[in-house]
Formats: sequence, structure tokens, C-alpha cells
Amino acid sequence: MRRKTKSCCSPSCRPPAARRALPALLAALLALSGCGGGKEDSLRIGAALYTQDDTFISAMAQDLEGLVREAERETGKKITLFIADGKSSQSTQMNQVDRFLARGCDVLCVNLVDRTAAAVIADKAEAEGVPLVFFNRQPVAEDIQRWDGIYYVGADARESGELQGRLVLDAWRAGREALDRNGDGILQYVMLEGEPGHQDSLLRTEYSIKAVTDGGVEVEKLANETANWNRAQAAARMAQWLEEFGDGIEVVFSNNDDMALGAIDALGDTPRDRWPLIVGVDATAPALEAVAAGQLYGTVHNDGQGQAQAMIDLALALWNGEDPAQAVELAEGNYVWLPYRQVTLENLDGFWED
Ligand code: BGC
Ligand code: CA
Repeated sequence: MRRKTKSCCSPSCRPPAARRALPALLAALLALSGCGGGKEDSLRIGAALYTQDDTFISAMAQDLEGLVREAERETGKKITLFIADGKSSQSTQMNQVDRFLARGCDVLCVNLVDRTAAAVIADKAEAEGVPLVFFNRQPVAEDIQRWDGIYYVGADARESGELQGRLVLDAWRAGREALDRNGDGILQYVMLEGEPGHQDSLLRTEYSIKAVTDGGVEVEKLANETANWNRAQAAARMAQWLEEFGDGIEVVFSNNDDMALGAIDALGDTPRDRWPLIVGVDATAPALEAVAAGQLYGTVHNDGQGQAQAMIDLALALWNGEDPAQAVELAEGNYVWLPYRQVTLENLDGFWED
């Protein structure tokens, strides 16, 4: 096991200038000091999840496991992946990060519970000289810039909102009579929001509606509430709204698929011709089934597998002391963005295996 000891790997024995070109220099320093030699040993990746009890995140964890095995076969290197479930507690996640560092993990991948905790984790990783890849829950730019070994892998939340809004806009343009059930020329909607403060909740909520209004369609918000990405909470919200607004709801915008499926649960036996149009984000397996069944009008594919692949490619490059820009496409120095794609019944077939 390769241990990063304070004596040879802490910032105190790196000249300050070295911090600007971390990966290559770190590798060189490690080799010189004799405490590296990572290429001969196994790569140890510590992945901290905000909670494994999240459909999208647990699928990503499975992707990571599968892709690690694939990378082992391709590179001939041993790669050990530790996965920790933060159970939605930032203090639990802090302890998990400490344990990863104490175990000598070479790269940390962190899906923050609380996005504002990024700086503390960044400092812990820097003190041990361990590169850090945040994913899915995006820290503010200043935290990413805290030192050179920090990266973010994710997808542009604004893009997902725009694509979701355009799904609705296209449906309106193609079949306005069906959508505008009260015939007032205005689109009445409800919004199921993810966790408050999450970049994807804020930006999907804003940009989905903006895409519709930019397309020249007037909207009226009947209600919006958080359901914390959660199917059961969304079903409860939707049940309340159905009591309150009944057939008055023309569209349900949902910040993710699990909550869209909750809205579908709440509709239960309501005859299909009285259902509102429902749209989600993620393209999880159950959501694709709901699209196939005509319950979910469409969703926006959130490429968790592509994000997991980028994290492993980054981890390998950083561990090998290679330029990460050769392994992944980096934007603004430290960001890897995976594109979103719209999914409807028409192009569904291309997504089943993702
Ligand atoms: C996904 C959600 C997920 C959340 C977790 C989002 O990108 O769309 O389904 O619950 O990330 O942070
Ligand atoms: Ca209307």
C-alpha cells in the first residue's frame, strides 16, 4: 500500500511554485523522494457519495465499479475503489474523507452532501497532496480554485433546464389544443424542485421556464415546492396539487426523473386524457420505461456513465503524473462537462443501454 506521509508529501516540503503545476511535479517529487512509485502499486480511489439512497447517484456508483474493472483490464494496473455512503450527513462525509486519506487513497472523488463544505475537504486533500475530483454537486468557483489539484466533473445544469423547457415548447407548438386544456393560451404549470441550494434545482427551475417563455409562450405558475429529488415526497406534493388544482395543471416540470415518477404515482387511476404533460431529467431506467409507456412525455439524459468515466480517466492521469488535459476534455482549467440530451418516445431506443 502506498502511504502519503507528511514527511515527503505535505505542502511544507513542496516549494510554493510547485503548487501551480501539481500533477507532473507531484509525480516527480514522489519519485525522487521514494514515497511514490505509484505506477508499481495499486491506484486507490476513495469515492464519497452524498447518499447512496438516490437513484441517479447509486447508478453512478455502479458505473464507477464497472468502469474500474474495465480500466484494470485495459491498463493492467490494480485499481481499488472505496465507496462511502454519506447518508446525507456532512459530518459523516467528513469522517469518510479523513478515513480515505488515512488509508492512503491516491485520488478522492467527492459528491458533497453540502456544497458549501468544499473548502474544508479541499484543504484536507491539499495537506496530504491528494488530488480531488468533486462531482455532481458543484462547489463555487473559488473552492475549485483553492489549489491546483481540484477538479469538477458534471453536467451544465442550465443546459438541462433549457432542454427540458424546449421539450415542452415543442409539445405546445405541435399540439397546443391538447396541452392548453382550458384554452386560455397560457400554460399553467407546477414545478417539482430538487434539494434547495443544489445547482441543478436552481438552474433547471429557472431555465426550463425561460426556454418556454423565450419561445413566446405565456406561462402561469400554479405551485412550486421542493421534493428533495425524492419520488415519495413528490407524490405527496402532487397529490396535494391535484386536490387543489385538479385538471387545471397542464404541465408538470420536475427537476429530476424520480420526482416526475412521483407525480405519475399520484395520478394513479386518473384517466390518461386528464393527465398533464410531465417532463423530467436524468433518463434513469424507470423513467425510460415511463416514457415507453407514454406516462412521461420526455426527459433529459444526464450522462452519469460519462461522468464516471471522466472521473476514472482523471484519476488515472493524476496518479500517473500525466497531463489530465490529455485524458479528459478540460474547460476553464479544471472542469469536465458532459453534455445533456433530450429523450422522447421518438429517440428512446438509443438510451436503453446507457
Ligand atoms: C440528478 C438528480 C440527483 C442529484 C443528486 C442531479 O444531477 O439529476 O437525480 O438526485 O443530482 O445530487
Ligand atoms: Ca392554459
